[in-house]
Amino acid sequence: MPLIQHVTDSDLERLALDRVVPSLLSQGFCYLDEFLGELVGDILLEQVRDMHRAEMLQDGRLAGSVPGAPRRNIRGDKIAWVSGAERGCEAINFLLTLIDKLISKCAGRLEKKVIRERSKAMVACYPGNGAGYVRHVDNPSADGRCITCIYYLNRNWNAKEHGGVLRIFPEGEPDVDIEPLFDRLLLFWSDRRNPHEVQPSYATRYAITVWYFDSEERAEAKRRFRDLTASTRQSSGSTCS
Ligand code: OGA
Ligand code: MN
Repeated sequence: MPLIQHVTDSDLERLALDRVVPSLLSQGFCYLDEFLGELVGDILLEQVRDMHRAEMLQDGRLAGSVPGAPRRNIRGDKIAWVSGAERGCEAINFLLTLIDKLISKCAGRLEKKVIRERSKAMVACYPGNGAGYVRHVDNPSADGRCITCIYYLNRNWNAKEHGGVLRIFPEGEPDVDIEPLFDRLLLFWSDRRNPHEVQPSYATRYAITVWYFDSEERAEAKRRFRDLTASTRQSSGSTCS
């Protein structure tokens, strides 16, 4: 096997059409192993470790949470948001480019979704102190996010010993356990179809997550947000614009 697997457009198209689209449509999730290959996966892991060592990862924030309120019981990860253009994030950029291509190969085949945008990448570390993330839905309120993609970086992960399993509770189906294994890419619908939790993790657990947006839902969410901030401004009598 070549050291660097050269992933061609047609490889990605095959993955998209044979695996990602059918699995998302039938089960609501899909995972692909050996996504980048050992060599690139290792370089990426080293870059994430470097970010961790440089203390670039901060406590994960909760949407709508009150500053100072305890968060660790809900979500115990440390995170950083990156675009991929930063120095030291070249391998993350490579990963993002590949996932973008994979998603673009699914175009027109994922329900009525039109995907033209995604979030930045969230680099996350559960430090191994037993922290996890309680059951939640990523997008319960139509904020525009339609697909969650998580790339895992954990070599020699043993779920019996290290925990850290992602448990999905697909609507109306039995639970599914997904181990956060090295070089695994997981995709699932971000909406209420897929409540999920990260079980307590007893070893350092790294992952990189991006969310893809459905254009129409995103535009609608932005309109709602604009209306809301406009009416708040009016009712507080502020003259600032
Ligand atoms: C999240 C999340 C799952 C994982 O950050 O919203 O659910 O396996 N992460 O890291
Ligand atoms: Mn989540």
